[in-house]
Amino acid sequence: MKKVAILCNGGDVAGFNAVIRGIIKTAENNGIECYGFIEGYKGLLKNEYVKLSTKDSTASGILHKGGSIIGSSLNSNVFNYKVEENGEVVYKDLSDVCVENVKKDGFDCIFTLGGDSTQKSARDFSLKGLNVIGIPKTIDNDVACTEITFGYNTAVTVATEAIDRLHTTAETHNRIMVLEVMGRNAGWIALESAIAGGADVALIPEIPYDIEKVAQAINKRKEEGKKFSIVVVAEGAFPKGGGLTVKDTRDGGKGVINTQLGGIGDKVAKELEELTGLISRNTTLGYMQRGGVPTPFDRVLSTKYGSKAMELALEGKFGVLVRINNGKLDSVSLEDVVGRGAEVGAVSSNVRTVNMDHDMVKTARNIGICFGD
Ligand code: F6P
Repeated sequence: MKKVAILCNGGDVAGFNAVIRGIIKTAENNGIECYGFIEGYKGLLKNEYVKLSTKDSTASGILHKGGSIIGSSLNSNVFNYKVEENGEVVYKDLSDVCVENVKKDGFDCIFTLGGDSTQKSARDFSLKGLNVIGIPKTIDNDVACTEITFGYNTAVTVATEAIDRLHTTAETHNRIMVLEVMGRNAGWIALESAIAGGADVALIPEIPYDIEKVAQAINKRKEEGKKFSIVVVAEGAFPKGGGLTVKDTRDGGKGVINTQLGGIGDKVAKELEELTGLISRNTTLGYMQRGGVPTPFDRVLSTKYGSKAMELALEGKFGVLVRINNGKLDSVSLEDVVGRGAEVGAVSSNVRTVNMDHDMVKTARNIGICFGD
């Protein structure tokens, strides 16, 4: 093993750079050179990369920095890549170009930092013979086969601080304050921040809600003398029998997410105002959850993930994802992560959603957080 490369793919999270640093430091201590592909799989396709070293300005002082020093690509599935040919948009499988680039320049391992779609492509590349090691990233915490992804803890911390701040306005003005947080398929951020921030209602994609039930819970609080309520809503939450609230759609072809969610917080606030008579306001937290400095927890988790990934590369253990399992750092086959036999090039559908017997669901129910069910 002489040289390895890192790529970051998907939406930014706090902790990308801490993982990069963990890989590089472990590599440098073993005499291995590190490179970073620019903007994820796009860089792999265009063969654009830079040398990274913690001994100079290319990768020094990055532990606490948000974003990614090598960028990150959104919605680029190189197995079904959007290109223009003779004025027409067509989708092509350009993965062989990437494989050639890696082989030609002699990279012994590629580390893929990303969420479910990124790891889906990582697994598809490992089927094509590349040495790949995945590292689970996403604020949504929904990568399969791991208990936690890096970036999630920072997002929960930001959401909790927002709830603390919204409490002030809610209490002062006897209002319902709704907070819309991210969470497309999984309600982890909404659930954990609702518990941490002392919210009264948590609406998550895993539990379709009945707005009447939510209003009843808020009215009951009102009767008991609490004239304000805090409601946390995941962007992917939806009413029983209803659909997702979509802000926009895009055409990135199959294998990428083509809907931008958003607006459920406003919808819930409006309906609750009508049903309870209490003034309701929504705040959409948006990209605040992804940016900025990582929490100490995320810095440590990211460092563990990065250094473990390099350790696995040194052992020649490829085609795996580093993960936390029963609280311990280990690895799992990428095939298990994407779902055994998953079609090459297709969108990933194997995500880890909130399970109903999870401690946090039970705890939330025990302390009276309403899920609207
Ligand atoms: O995957 C993380 C996530 O935060 C989702 O919850 C959200 O739907 C998505 O990113 C939004 O990403 P973007 O607007 O950058 O496409």
